[in-house]
Amino acid sequence: MLDQGAPPQNQKPAAPASPGVAARLMRRKPVERLVAEGGQGEGGRLRRSLGLWQLTMISIGATLGTGIFVVLGEAVPKAGPAVILSFVIAGVTALFSALSYAELAGTIPVSGSSYSYAYATMGELIAWVCGWCLLLEYGVSVAAVAVGWGEYLNELLDGTFGVTIPDALANPPGVHGGVFNLPALIVVLLAMTFLLGGAKESARANTVMVCVKIAALVLFCAIGLMGFKSGNYSHFMPLGMGGVSAAGATLFFSYIGFDAASTAGEEAKDAQRDLPRAIMLSLVIVTALYVLVAAVAIGAKPWRTFENSEAALAQIMTDVTGRSFWGTLLAFCAVIAIASVVLTVLYGQTRILFAMSRDGLVPKVFARVHHKTGVPRANTVIVALFCGVLAAAIPLGQLADATSIGTLFAFALVNIAVVVLRRTRPEMKRTFRVPLSWVLPALGFICCVWMMGSLSTVTWTVFGVWMAVGLVFYFLYGYRRSRLATDEDLAVTAEK
Ligand code: ALA
Repeated sequence: MLDQGAPPQNQKPAAPASPGVAARLMRRKPVERLVAEGGQGEGGRLRRSLGLWQLTMISIGATLGTGIFVVLGEAVPKAGPAVILSFVIAGVTALFSALSYAELAGTIPVSGSSYSYAYATMGELIAWVCGWCLLLEYGVSVAAVAVGWGEYLNELLDGTFGVTIPDALANPPGVHGGVFNLPALIVVLLAMTFLLGGAKESARANTVMVCVKIAALVLFCAIGLMGFKSGNYSHFMPLGMGGVSAAGATLFFSYIGFDAASTAGEEAKDAQRDLPRAIMLSLVIVTALYVLVAAVAIGAKPWRTFENSEAALAQIMTDVTGRSFWGTLLAFCAVIAIASVVLTVLYGQTRILFAMSRDGLVPKVFARVHHKTGVPRANTVIVALFCGVLAAAIPLGQLADATSIGTLFAFALVNIAVVVLRRTRPEMKRTFRVPLSWVLPALGFICCVWMMGSLSTVTWTVFGVWMAVGLVFYFLYGYRRSRLATDEDLAVTAEK
């Protein structure tokens, strides 16, 4: 008699039952696998060339830009002098999430950033959703930032040569008589050219630009203090706490980017040691600068006069000194500052897509690495063209606001991921640990959700549509082509 468990003679053993839809959506990628694949692309490898200094500069480069040079002018009328508190609130929200990023970046030092952390902890569907949100945080924000760059470029051209770019070439269709925003396209293409030269070369250029922008803000504070009037603070919170939190949600944009170092995990020389440090260091430096600059700006210019001032800081420099030279100098530095945001955020976007492509969730072309430069060349060109055209031809409006909601969503997931990984893999080596167990990640999660709640209904609608498009793309493409789908042995399914 045949053993009941054995297949009848002449009959092939039955294929293992394929996992159900839910299990497939929740399949996780083993951390060891994520780390082992580090640097490996199609036809070549990324190069490990970045140290702590460059990584910190990448994060500062991606963070310090339009938020302080342009968005501050929009936030002050919402909160009055209490905009300083708005910066602190947005900074604390960023800080909680930065701690979680630091722990995960030190534990899973790969290029996919929060997308990869979600893949290791919460499964493929959530990872995809996270990666799709990162496209808002990085790809769409590059476009939004490039538009801000054009505004300062105009200020600079006006101050130096007395000319401005005609409206038709300085705005997208439908905005102030625009047809095509040429400066926005140009800055993205310039950044692309740097990136194609190699990660180390781009990091070097970025470091110079970051030094210029920090010097410019310090100079602003020094000059602004000469025109400081304490009377400007006589009514500190004229629009109440509601105004402070609305301005905080707007200013959250200025903190986006501190996580950029985590997209360089596969190009860092000592990723586990340096990524957490770079993330925390950059956030501390940026927050200190923001609070200082905001305090000086309000002291030098009554808050009500900020309405409709696109280049507020440059204007303050001119007003305080009585000479347009200083305003023009600041505009020049802002042009450089914002260009470095475009450079580093574009870099981050290419590396996230690189990781997603290696996992099979987006086409393979994004993981192709040029053997000589160690750069994902096709990926860089595609992303730059996409962002450049988006910035030049589409009135960003609500899409730019959606950057913040997408980022907050990704940050919320990172705060969950850190707790999940501690439960599922408590034994893993962590070079940095968020203090107070789950308390700070929980606070980080709550802050992100709270800030998302203060964004407008239109922003939520745009976000909903964005997510729906992302899910359709996933089910049509990634669900079947995922490496975990084609190589089931790789996956850690939900039951394990
Ligand atoms: N935080 C970046 C900026 O302010 C996006 O430009």
